[in-house]
Amino acid sequence: MVNTQFIVSPSKKLQGQLRVPGDKSISHRAIMLGALAEGTTHISGFLEGEDTLATLAAFKSMCVLIEGPEQGRVTVHGVGLHGLQAPYKPLYLGNSGTSMRLLAGLMAGQKFSVEMTGDESLSRRPMRRVTEPLATMGALIYTTASGTPPLKIQGSQQLHPIHYPMPIASAQVKSCLLLAGLYAQGTTCIIEPAPTRDHTERMLRSLGYPVQQEGNRVCVTGGGHLTATDIDVPADISSAAFFMVGASIATGSDITLQHVGINPTRTGVLEILKAMGADITLHHEREVGGEPVADIQVRHAPLHGIQIPEYLVPLAIDEFPVLFIAAACAEGETVLTGAAELRVKESDRIQVMADGLQTVGIQAHPTPDGMIIRGGKIHGGQVNSHGDHRIAMAFTIASLCASEPIIIDDCANVATSFPNFVELATRAGITMTVEK
Ligand code: S3P
Repeated sequence: MVNTQFIVSPSKKLQGQLRVPGDKSISHRAIMLGALAEGTTHISGFLEGEDTLATLAAFKSMCVLIEGPEQGRVTVHGVGLHGLQAPYKPLYLGNSGTSMRLLAGLMAGQKFSVEMTGDESLSRRPMRRVTEPLATMGALIYTTASGTPPLKIQGSQQLHPIHYPMPIASAQVKSCLLLAGLYAQGTTCIIEPAPTRDHTERMLRSLGYPVQQEGNRVCVTGGGHLTATDIDVPADISSAAFFMVGASIATGSDITLQHVGINPTRTGVLEILKAMGADITLHHEREVGGEPVADIQVRHAPLHGIQIPEYLVPLAIDEFPVLFIAAACAEGETVLTGAAELRVKESDRIQVMADGLQTVGIQAHPTPDGMIIRGGKIHGGQVNSHGDHRIAMAFTIASLCASEPIIIDDCANVATSFPNFVELATRAGITMTVEK
């Protein structure tokens, strides 16, 4: 396999105005719900990354007519909740856990059988978290003996509604079961142990499907229908986070990230950085298609270590790789607990980040559910991202407080969520080359 390497020189500061690509979670849902709606959905700001393109290809292979993407514009000709057709081969979902877990719920309600596969990383990820509750709804769904993909789903099963207290805080599990709930006879309710991203609920509502929310319980009743609408996808706060940390740690930085989604179920990264001393200002707060959006200005400020409050973990779950870099450049100790989920992301993000931080000279102590990091001097060195897009980008940002080059191995998957990362990072002030 080709090893795409990032070679990043010590960089000085980040400056300018940037619009990072569209939100990955919202882009997936826009294709899925647009396909299931009645009428034509026009999407703008769609993330043209490998993960969301995998979702798009899956729906095309189920006979949904989709035009684009063309500069973030996609037109989805919805087929209604019962209009998908059997694909003639397994759905290949690449690196994308969101595609597979959300589609598991949706496929459980179809009249046809389907198999879903993924790349090496996705093929290692736990799927019982969705297959077990789906089975209690009456789905016939199978994993490998170790609970991993491929997933095989047998069609034509009548789904029953369930009331399901989720054992883990997961928006993918919640969304999977809500999508299955659209096909169940009666009301399906999911009870969350802690708030997680609510893009599915918001988008269902904006397509005219009632969703009941009471405290930590969210419910849908099967048998309704979705009506097409236009969806403007905001820039992804998870991609913006790399530049927020970069600007915070590099003296003289001043950067503005435009049109970023600031849904309160996603803003843990802002809370954590502010608690560490970051200088962050939100401008032009507004609402676009049911999702709050703002321009986020970040200026350099000295950071200090903190104990990260556990309630913020699900609200910043994808941002920890780069938050660990913030901690490495902060004064004192940062302690993360309650984040065992990081071990089952695209890589084991606790171990892989701890290994990389130690390689570049930082004291990082991994624990079963988090990490203890002592801020210090980042030298250079060669680290391995293990094919995890967010690890590759996090170590690129580390160059803003490094004294020597950082070489990062296995970076091709940056294209899953942030296809123009190198271009934007370079424009903002990072000096890097890509070797294949
Ligand atoms: C996502 C939910 C999160 C997140 C992932 C996207 C979603 O996963 O890590 O990148 O779009 O619902 P979990 O639900 O497994 O925490």
